[in-house]
Amino acid sequence: MQIRLDKFLADAGIGTRSEVKRIIKRKSVTINGIYVVKPEIKVNPDTDEIAVDGSAVALRGSVTYLLHKPAGYVCAVKDSRFPTVMEFVPQNRDLFPVGRLDKDTEGLILITNDGMMAHRMLSPRSHVDKMYLAVLDRPAEKKYAAFFSEGVDIGDDMPTLPAGLKICDTDDPELAYLPKEYHTALCPGQAVLLTIQEGRYHQVKRMFHAVGREVVYLKRLSFGPLVLPLSLKKGESILCDPEKLSAGR
Ligand code: URA
Repeated sequence: MQIRLDKFLADAGIGTRSEVKRIIKRKSVTINGIYVVKPEIKVNPDTDEIAVDGSAVALRGSVTYLLHKPAGYVCAVKDSRFPTVMEFVPQNRDLFPVGRLDKDTEGLILITNDGMMAHRMLSPRSHVDKMYLAVLDRPAEKKYAAFFSEGVDIGDDMPTLPAGLKICDTDDPELAYLPKEYHTALCPGQAVLLTIQEGRYHQVKRMFHAVGREVVYLKRLSFGPLVLPLSLKKGESILCDPEKLSAGR
């Protein structure tokens, strides 16, 4: 994301737009160590280091990235054994992942520094829908949809909240999210869409285990109002629209 230097400095609270223009013109501002005098020059707040009179300037306010998580990364700020999703976002904004996907799960994960938003999206009381695309070891049976809609005993104190199951048809657009190796290799009923309202540990895998199926591939396609863009490659992230994040508040 590129913005004008004077807007960046004004947003960061350095002064009004005309004050920061004067500050820039008197040669007090550096971008990556180089003095600049043009207020209209474009900067990337994620990658450029901007300083006024030698002090680094950070944007105020919250920021949220939507990342297409690849398998093999854990959803933690730090981990001693595995690479984390933080590798894919800027390092200087106190960011953390909103909830967790398993190491082998792909798909939409939010990374933010907005604690209130994270709480709102994760609270079981908020009932935020999360839709997963799963490939099962054997085809799902039609009766699972009614079973899941009642809530499932997966060995916790309480059964799950009602969940929505759709067995995919061959022309369902969501199948476009599957890796190529599955495009021709699936039996009817092996690909399913499950929408859950909670985020319990291994929830999707445990729900299918409860009906005698194992999940062999899992991808999160949506989280509340946010949908994983089909064009977003694994490891790529985009900045989220704050209005979408406050929808349903
Ligand atoms: N349910 C799972 O089993 N795994 C995930 O990563 C997310 C939901």
